Amino acid sequence: MATSSRAPLTSRLAGFGTTIFAEMSALATRTGAINLGQGFPDTDGPAEVLEAAVAAIRAGHNQYPPGPGIPTLRAGIAAHQRRFHGIELDPDGEVLVTTGATEAIAAALLALCEPGDEVVTFEPYYDSYAACIALAGAQRRVVTLRPPDYAIDPEALAAAFSPRTRLVLLNSPHNPTGKVFTRAELELVAGHCRGRDVLAVTDEVYEHLVFDGREHVPLATLPGMAERTLTISSAGKTFSFTGWKIGWATGPRALVSAVQTAKQFLTFVSGAPFQHAIAHALGLPDAYFESFRTGLQAKRDRLCAGLEAAGLDVLRPAGTYFVTTDIRPLGERDGRAFCLALPERAGVVAVPTVVFYDDEDVGRPLVRFAFCKRDEVIDKAAARLAGLRG
Ligand SMILES: Cc1ncc(COP(=O)(O)O)c(C=O)c1O
Repeated sequence: MATSSRAPLTSRLAGFGTTIFAEMSALATRTGAINLGQGFPDTDGPAEVLEAAVAAIRAGHNQYPPGPGIPTLRAGIAAHQRRFHGIELDPDGEVLVTTGATEAIAAALLALCEPGDEVVTFEPYYDSYAACIALAGAQRRVVTLRPPDYAIDPEALAAAFSPRTRLVLLNSPHNPTGKVFTRAELELVAGHCRGRDVLAVTDEVYEHLVFDGREHVPLATLPGMAERTLTISSAGKTFSFTGWKIGWATGPRALVSAVQTAKQFLTFVSGAPFQHAIAHALGLPDAYFESFRTGLQAKRDRLCAGLEAAGLDVLRPAGTYFVTTDIRPLGERDGRAFCLALPERAGVVAVPTVVFYDDEDVGRPLVRFAFCKRDEVIDKAAARLAGLRG
């Protein structure tokens, strides 16, 4: 068959090949290694939420739902934001249901950025940020977070802004580092947004995974930020149904409406029966959210202990379900080579953090492991990794 001589992939997407998660999960499948690479739980979420999805399918909720999301889910999202964060939202106009946080991020960048606009974000960054900024024809301006504490450098933050800055894209709790931005750091970001009339888009998919008594502070709750912040989250992580892809964007009517305009041409609507089930899930009692958090905190401790015993330098996370390690104590320098060899060497798959950095020197020796797995899987992985010392 004749093909065009022009490369099929546009220049906007050149360099964004297969995501590292797909690549590493394929490696796990091929080698039979334990997959601590991709961030998905290996058990289902609450049985009653599963039953709610089945009931919704049987009840005939199988055709296109309303574009912004079914009313009960929008009301549930608004009630969740009030219950956990004290944020008041009108479910009619200030809440949009999306196909996971991933679609909300894409739709937000496509809707809010003109070609040539700049987006300030923090590295290491979740990989879809760079791709969606590129799809929107915008430019990323990256502020580097450095281990061990990944604190924001105020000078580097100030230097990332320019007259072309359209928005700040902030992820807290932060993947891959597990950092939870402090109120003081968020104030710093908010100060720039207010002072320069810049929007904020926040990715808070790990909002319920904050450990050791720390608090998750949504940027939208800081003074003067509600009117300029689009807050994104998702049911995938909070309820352990990452395959259902129900997410949401909330905020001022004008921002939500802009994002809905883009969303309607991306997916039009999002999975009808799962919306009913997540509406149920959002109404679970506080005890669910608390035991989810303490359960994951215990898994964090379990995997961190195993990684330490294996001789890795562990950067203990304050939130999310990832832990980053520095491989240099093992005499290793290159996380990518280490991760490619790890399935053969130890029967475990992890993710090289360097793929989330523009400044590859900072990320080169760092490797991320996911601990959202059954205890016996974590223990088995730890036992295998213990052999690395030798
Ligand atoms: C920081 C961050 N944002 C967004 C997502 C994707 O969320 P969803 O599955 O709801 O699209 C992930 C998933 O790993 C993530 O880590």
